[in-house]
Amino acid sequence: MNIKKIYQQAVERLLAAGVADAAIDVGFLLSHLLKCSRAELFVADRYLSPGLVEQFGKFLARRMAREPVAYIIGEQEFWSLSFLVTPDVLIPRPETEHVVEAALELNKSGFVENGPMLDLGTGSGILAICLALEMPDRQVVAVDRSRPALLVAAANAKRHGVSSRVNFVNSCWLEAFRPGPIFSVVVTNPPYVAQTSMAALEPEVRVFEPALALDGGFHGVREIEIICRDLDQILKAGGWFFMEIGFDQEEYVLELFRKMSGYDNVRVIRDYAGLPRVLQARKTATVKKHG
Ligand SMILES: C[S@@+](CC[C@H](N)C(=O)[O-])C[C@H]1O[C@@H](n2cnc3c(N)ncnc32)[C@H](O)[C@@H]1O
Repeated sequence: MNIKKIYQQAVERLLAAGVADAAIDVGFLLSHLLKCSRAELFVADRYLSPGLVEQFGKFLARRMAREPVAYIIGEQEFWSLSFLVTPDVLIPRPETEHVVEAALELNKSGFVENGPMLDLGTGSGILAICLALEMPDRQVVAVDRSRPALLVAAANAKRHGVSSRVNFVNSCWLEAFRPGPIFSVVVTNPPYVAQTSMAALEPEVRVFEPALALDGGFHGVREIEIICRDLDQILKAGGWFFMEIGFDQEEYVLELFRKMSGYDNVRVIRDYAGLPRVLQARKTATVKKHG
């Protein structure tokens, strides 16, 4: 069957199923099947074999049921690299690249001290692995509560050749750690969706992505509060913290850091859409706990 015909029919079917980016998605599915780039799809008068037509039909049915393309093809691009993804992990989002960018910018300017880095809630491992690749002299510890997610992250570390420098720990945030300020950088993209907003999420997210990766409690800040409360135990004086936040959480996190003494350079970095996206803070000293 001619690829142009298949393409057009598939786009129409996805649009009818309520998929907004139908043309882009069909391009991804076809190029995955044909093992070519999306740009190459239409350069020759390509035909799909009956076997590939059948496989494409199965892919299309899954997408029409609103399963995300990344789970269908089993990978997602982040930081110009391809990462394995399964339904056990959140699909990497482009906004999260701002966390990597913020840490690298400070490192290039010489503001980041030596020492290991920590990724809390690593999911597919994107933050830990990109930081390990970009800062080849560092060790990274990557934590997740989900064991199946850690298996995906470990496979990604192997895929990108950083297994010897990224260590995976199954823990509920810092529970598995003995308090001791050893990390020079802590990054996290915690679950920050308010429970009240969960029902309004697109089916791709609500039905298919792991709730553990999304659900931030009633107001969306339950996990943010736990991480920030315990941060002092493991971050070195002079160490940096980078945390992805929801577009409506800027004031909340700035106030949280105002109340916690011992941090300076507290600011929120905006994404390309101009929305608040990453909280950045530097620890000035170990905070003495009273009482
Ligand atoms: C928003 S996802 C981020 C995944 C990945 N870092 C990314 O940016 O794509 C949050 C991650 O935190 C993990 N998580 C949720 N609660 C946790 C907890 N209490 N302790 C450790 N990890 C947790 C989830 O399993 C999930 O992988």
